Amino acid sequence: MMKVYQKRRHILGNLLPKDSAIIIPGADLKYRNSDSSYNFRQDSNFYYLSGFSEAGSTMLIVNSNGKVSSSIFVPKKDKLKEIWDGFRQGPEGAKENFLFDNSFNNDQIDSELPDLIKGMDKVFYPFGKKDGFDQLVINWNKTVSNIKGRHNKPIDIADGSSLIGNLRLIKDDEEISIIKKACEISADAHIEAMKAVKPGMNEQSIEALYLYEFAKQGGRFPAYTPIVAGGDNACVLHYVDNNKDLNNSDLLLVDAGCEYEMYASDITRTFPVSGKFSAEQLAIYNIVLNALHTAIEMVKVGKSVMDPQIASERAITQGLVDLGILNGDVDELHKEGAFKDFYMHKFGHWMGLDVHDAGDYMEDGEYMKFKAGMITTVEPGIYISNDADVDKKWQGIGIRIEDDILVTKSGNINLTEKVPSDPSEIEALMA
Ligand code: GLY
Ligand code: MN
Ligand code: MN
Repeated sequence: MMKVYQKRRHILGNLLPKDSAIIIPGADLKYRNSDSSYNFRQDSNFYYLSGFSEAGSTMLIVNSNGKVSSSIFVPKKDKLKEIWDGFRQGPEGAKENFLFDNSFNNDQIDSELPDLIKGMDKVFYPFGKKDGFDQLVINWNKTVSNIKGRHNKPIDIADGSSLIGNLRLIKDDEEISIIKKACEISADAHIEAMKAVKPGMNEQSIEALYLYEFAKQGGRFPAYTPIVAGGDNACVLHYVDNNKDLNNSDLLLVDAGCEYEMYASDITRTFPVSGKFSAEQLAIYNIVLNALHTAIEMVKVGKSVMDPQIASERAITQGLVDLGILNGDVDELHKEGAFKDFYMHKFGHWMGLDVHDAGDYMEDGEYMKFKAGMITTVEPGIYISNDADVDKKWQGIGIRIEDDILVTKSGNINLTEKVPSDPSEIEALMA
């Protein structure tokens, strides 16, 4: 198992220019208030390259004239601390069990790390991702140039975010099987929610249902704060209050996905609180569903991230014209961006260890092309708030449908299609 991480370190090390190194900071424990901490979550880059989950660790990968080696700095063994907070690997455990070439206590980093990077031309690290870390890298660099009695040239500092991000963009078999499981758990939760929702319930109890269904199958934490938005609340894109009562005539938009073994899933479904869509709700719903299907068709090897974007914009523009919500020529309206009053976010994003996963959207000055092993969400939406300048019958309708799509050699796989998005299937499930 640990060999997967070692292999990733080697791949990254071999991507580095000769005689350069990359430093990857791990996450620290964060506090919510006073001395109550959040549950620790390892930094995704750090986890991807180590599988190591102790707070306050740092990793270094060196490519010395083509030879790759890796070091890790970890919390030191401490009997008393381990009684209170649990087992620590310590440097020996980290080296042996996580297959590093060198390991140290993290309080040795200021003296040891400069020694390990001296003689390098370049040091990469993810810029601006961790408070105070930029200054630490500068300090280590200064220490190298001050090491006495040696001839040390200055080391260039460069951003390593894209290097690691673009590696994470293509998921290996190990990752794909974990993400499939995360998607399945989240799909099951959406199905349970559709069966459970009743008028008069509070958004909060629906949120609780999701968290319970996730945890029951091993997804203790959501991959992001769930959005549970009844009626007009769905038009607030990042609505997380989740505390209003649900009205019989409202739609309920839920954007919720669990994290499973560190990997995210990300599903949105919009369904009628009463169990039956009204004519207006259904008309808007079908536009979004058509945009979803049209965009998913574009998530294929050879297409670029701009293809599903444009496909979803066009489908939504056409649908809104058909209903008389937008007036004019579809091509012109699309060019003007008239849809942006109702569809104001992008079609989707990479998904993996982070829900908005690492990885670029541009490549050599052009939009990134889809490659087998990438996973993107597709999540078109139409949001018509109560103060939108349209016929009153459309107001208070906010709809998004979001699936997670794996690009394969021959097409794609919808990892979240288990949860119905077809309106008649939703009504049947809710009946
Ligand atoms: N749940 C966050 C998103 O859909 O991007
Ligand atoms: Mn998303
Ligand atoms: Mn989402």
